[in-house]
Amino acid sequence: MQIRIVTPAEHESLLPGLIEVLRDSVDSGASVGFVAPPAWAEAARWWSRTLAGPDVITWVAVDDGGEPVGTVQLVLPWQDNGRHRAEIVKLMVHRHARGRGVGGRLLAAAEEEAARLGRWLLILNTRTGGEAEAIYGKRGYGEAAVIPDYAAGTDGVLYPTTIMTKVLDH
Ligand SMILES: CC(C)(COP(=O)(O)OP(=O)(O)OC[C@H]1O[C@@H](n2cnc3c(N)ncnc32)[C@H](O)[C@@H]1OP(=O)(O)O)[C@@H](O)C(=O)NCCC(=O)NCCS
Repeated sequence: MQIRIVTPAEHESLLPGLIEVLRDSVDSGASVGFVAPPAWAEAARWWSRTLAGPDVITWVAVDDGGEPVGTVQLVLPWQDNGRHRAEIVKLMVHRHARGRGVGGRLLAAAEEEAARLGRWLLILNTRTGGEAEAIYGKRGYGEAAVIPDYAAGTDGVLYPTTIMTKVLDH
């Protein structure tokens, strides 16, 4: 297993695997922006746009065969007054690779880079009561607020989200 930052040169070769990770996560019921697994072309458009974004760093976890099994992103606010903070988004591990520490390692990699960039205030939001909330809690993220009816689930019901923060050493 290797975890690394995705470079522009490998966008195209990683795209099919990243699409699969996204589609699998949505299919598993994860709240990652989509209410149903996006069609291949829609997922490809979403990934291409995201990977090309100027203020987003994307990590990929690849298995021994080089296939993507997980990903996470760090969004860096462009505002002058927000240079100390960053948002963790789209932490996703393919179901066949879960429970083996990949998610934790991806999160650690994003935190390490955030610290290196002086982004010591980390923010994320995750479905209230979801399993990811417990994982973040274990890793030092504290609840800042709960927003009711934040996002629709794959079942069409509106669910609350918990905004969590973590302050890194600085
Ligand atoms: C959340 C997710 C990324 C975790 O990935 P993973 O590779 O299975 O996680 P890890 O194996 O690294 O586990 C991380 C920690 O969470 C714990 N954990 C894993 N699954 C858990 C579960 N279902 N319930 C409670 N804790 C769990 C592990 O014990 C581990 O803790 P430890 O390091 O103290 O042992 C993965 O379940 C996923 O992709 N879910 C769908 C997408 C999603 O909901 N993302 C969050 C968006 S905010």
